[in-house]
Amino acid sequence: MTLNELKNECIKCTKCPLCEGRNNVVFGDGNENADILLIGEAPGANEDLEGKPFIGRSGKLLDDMMHEAGLTREKNIFITNTVKCRPPENRDPKPTEAALCREWLDLQIEIIKPKIIVCVGRISAQKIIDKNFKVTQMHGEFIEKDGILYTATYHPAAILRNINNRPIAVADWVKIKEKAKSL
Ligand code: URA
Ligand code: SF4
Repeated sequence: MTLNELKNECIKCTKCPLCEGRNNVVFGDGNENADILLIGEAPGANEDLEGKPFIGRSGKLLDDMMHEAGLTREKNIFITNTVKCRPPENRDPKPTEAALCREWLDLQIEIIKPKIIVCVGRISAQKIIDKNFKVTQMHGEFIEKDGILYTATYHPAAILRNINNRPIAVADWVKIKEKAKSL
């Protein structure tokens, strides 16, 4: 199956209740041949309206930080989220919703075959890497699972609340770029 064929299936999904309030399924965006797969938390209001991940204020900051590290979604990265539909009032996705949506993510991973998976923020890191993952302590570390390197960095929304973490996140992105190049 190609990524586009998967997208055409995914945008019809009604497996969990998040389908009820959505305007668009946010399948993902970027380069499907990328070495790096970024996994955020869930679409927000802007993403739901446009059908694209990370396009609001925090998405702009994410793009800026990745650009500073020499990475772009057009060239180096495919971006998606742990759930593809927006939770009401931007609440955290429920474990049942994330579990049902996981099948789409696993198929994306199978097709894209990333070398590195970057979890952006606590919700993603705890869902994908380790349920006890602490972003403040473990950001920028690489953990190997089944031939893929996993890492995590700060969510741009958290950086908007504490701008001191911006250079730390940019340094994580530089490490991620160097690591991808070395593989
Ligand atoms: N925050 C996320 O985690 N994902 C998006 O797509 C937008 C904002
Ligand atoms: Fe399907 Fe995922 Fe949307 Fe739930 S969040 S309806 S599982 S695509």
